[in-house]
Amino acid sequence: MASHGFYSKSQASCIGVALLFCTSLVIPSFAEPERLEHPAKGDGSLSCLVVGDWGRRGFYNQSHVAFQMGKIGEKLDIDFVVSTGDNFYDNGLTGLNDQAFEESFTKIYTATSLQKQWYSVLGNHDYRGDVEAQVHPALRMVDSRWLCLRSFILNAEIAGFFFVDTTPFVNDYFTDMDHTYDWRGVTPRKAYLDSLLKDLETALSGSTERWKIVVGHHAIKSAGYHGDTKELNDLLLPMLKAYNVDMYVNGHDHCLEHISSLDSPIQYLTSGAGSKAWRGDLNQHYEEDDLRFFYDGQGFMSVQLTKNDAGITFYNAFGKILHEWKALKELHSAV
Ligand SMILES: *[C@@H]1O[C@H](CO)[C@@H](O)[C@H](O)[C@H]1NC(C)=O
Repeated sequence: MASHGFYSKSQASCIGVALLFCTSLVIPSFAEPERLEHPAKGDGSLSCLVVGDWGRRGFYNQSHVAFQMGKIGEKLDIDFVVSTGDNFYDNGLTGLNDQAFEESFTKIYTATSLQKQWYSVLGNHDYRGDVEAQVHPALRMVDSRWLCLRSFILNAEIAGFFFVDTTPFVNDYFTDMDHTYDWRGVTPRKAYLDSLLKDLETALSGSTERWKIVVGHHAIKSAGYHGDTKELNDLLLPMLKAYNVDMYVNGHDHCLEHISSLDSPIQYLTSGAGSKAWRGDLNQHYEEDDLRFFYDGQGFMSVQLTKNDAGITFYNAFGKILHEWKALKELHSAV
């Protein structure tokens, strides 16, 4: 029975974790990020949906968003789904057997078009639970679509996706007395971040894909409730500029938004509206030119790429298009 396999898996992972812990006491070293591949379509194009901040057992319109994702996913013939984190509220998963995994994921995103690979990063709420469980391969046996890792690289032929574990960057979580975080595998923190940034730089500098898309949970730039993440502006953004990243995609703020800034061609895209939204905050420090679009309700985003064109579309919980943005690669990268 499935539950049997589960028990032995989680025991095996405990032993694995114990071994890792012992070795890390001697030399702190972090595994190289996993490199994955996903083929583009036969004509070379690629499309995916992006949703974030979603796992609430269908409540707060999560099911409505899921239903519309299924319809748009079919229309666009999507290749995969990206999740920008905060996958399971309020406190991540309690372990490999947490029913929230099926109640908030498997039983919600049921449409045929969504039976594709999901690529997920962790959010700060996921870090309040058992992170080792959420990134454990045993979850893929419960639902084969699931793939969540801390930081990883996805080569999708015309596009490289660089998934970054942003929660450990944020100072506040390390002084937050109201919640506990599962920092196993992230300490010593400085060594973890140094190694992550070094690996990301290696990956970005070696990338030959036409489009470079970096995905993290926290926003670099956002006009929403949480706003900009200072640590990412300081540590991550200079690298994204240096290696001509086209888009930075995140969740965390429970809204949909698109920011452009005049100092680089990077598009900042927030898709964090997979369930609870409507916070009502709009940070006014963004100029109208920069803040191209902001929606405080539920919805999701699609990304459509060909060798020369990129298209971004935001949808609400009824599947209605709220905002579209298109770019040509030549124009876009001419700095
Ligand atoms: C669900 O979506 C509708 C339409 O956007 C909205 O009016 C309503 O407030 C949402 N419900 C919740 C709980 O967010």
